[in-house]
Amino acid sequence: MLDEAIAGLPEILKRDMEENLCVCNQVPKIKVIEAIVLGADTREKVCAQTYASDGNGCCKLQIKHLLDHFNAQRKPE
Ligand code: FES
Repeated sequence: MLDEAIAGLPEILKRDMEENLCVCNQVPKIKVIEAIVLGADTREKVCAQTYASDGNGCCKLQIKHLLDHFNAQRKPE
């Protein structure tokens, strides 16, 4: 399920999966994606589950890009 989700990402969002997306709280991108795929559909939920963006918020935009991608896929056509 996670592999499938990653495979569907645009190339630019596939980079640096094991690197910290949230440097402030040392949360790898893969952990953020996992939380989103498992149902966190807002930044607040991602933050509550992973602590990503719970620092000074400098990674909010990156989380938003991932949420926009996966939330667009969740919506029925
Ligand atoms: S990098 Fe995530 S809050 Fe700063």
